Amino acid sequence: MPPPPHANVRVRAYAPGRVNLIGDHTDYSGGLVMPMAIDRGTSVVFTRGGTNVELRSTSEARPARVRVGEATGMVPSRVQPPWARYVAGVVAVLTPSQGGTGVLRCDLPIGAGLSSSAALEVCVALALGFEGTPLALAQACREAEELASGVPCGIMDQLASVAGVAGHALVIDCSSCALKPVALPAGAEVLVVHSGQSRRLAQSSYALRRAEVERAAASLGPLRSATLEDLNGLRDRVLRRRARHVVTENARVEAFAAALGAAELDTAGALMVESHRSLDEDFEVSTPALDATVQTLLATPGVFGARLTGAGFGGCVVALAEQGTADRLERGWLVRASAGAEVLPYDGPAEAP
Ligand code: GLA
Repeated sequence: MPPPPHANVRVRAYAPGRVNLIGDHTDYSGGLVMPMAIDRGTSVVFTRGGTNVELRSTSEARPARVRVGEATGMVPSRVQPPWARYVAGVVAVLTPSQGGTGVLRCDLPIGAGLSSSAALEVCVALALGFEGTPLALAQACREAEELASGVPCGIMDQLASVAGVAGHALVIDCSSCALKPVALPAGAEVLVVHSGQSRRLAQSSYALRRAEVERAAASLGPLRSATLEDLNGLRDRVLRRRARHVVTENARVEAFAAALGAAELDTAGALMVESHRSLDEDFEVSTPALDATVQTLLATPGVFGARLTGAGFGGCVVALAEQGTADRLERGWLVRASAGAEVLPYDGPAEAP
């Protein structure tokens, strides 16, 4: 049999992580989010060919080995070691005609709310030769994430990793997946600080929160077009608070995008603080460690606003600050808005940086 097309082609694929500036727990109800791809991510040098995907990772003790092809009986969520589940998820969704061998390198913290799993999925999908639109790539990787982790996540993380624009955050309308890049104003910087509490979404209340939002929408209609007044139609007080978070958070994303576009950093910062309060009190996904990290940042000169980023339940806090603030932080680091994922032919050594 002749080898499949592209066999033995060596590529280098890269996919960034993301930080979400505002708009959390809004993507899976067709709402607004505003993430940016960051200057940390996952890369792989990958030689296509063979019937397995075999990957080593410089940050994992055990390799991933996943068989490609129809009817392998493979269940991504049961694959070992656990990081290989995301590789298996991508293989299950893409059903590539051949595998390949490669070495992965990741400089994102894992389980920190910076989408290390989305970066892994997008990187592997590109290495395997995914052909399709950026949106189709993000959708395939979202599906892979759900197969791997069982978490019914939205599209934000994978789309931010695929579609990042250097120097810009992205307003994403998750009902149409339309994207609008918004330039980060000169003089502003984005900081990320780990709360010290790592998390696994599979063990969190993420799925419960999503189900609550869906129950609210079943009774009110799409939350994207609901008003605060409409929320009075919800008898259940918990559902009313969950829906209030979503309705007010969608409005905050629009206001934040406008404030950032006009370089009104005080206003943008205040909206981040309101977002955190809403995620804490109405949506109940914050933790004492996240709250304390937000408070420390808000007490730091130069910080306009801070909030948890991503799903919550632990992980990182994001802050908007004036240039030079990162130098004064005891913990945390500066992140730059970066371009999205890419794959290029590669003829260097198999373990290049
Ligand atoms: C996780 C999910 C996203 C999104 C965020 C919360 O990162 O993967 O789809 O729901 O949580 O905004």
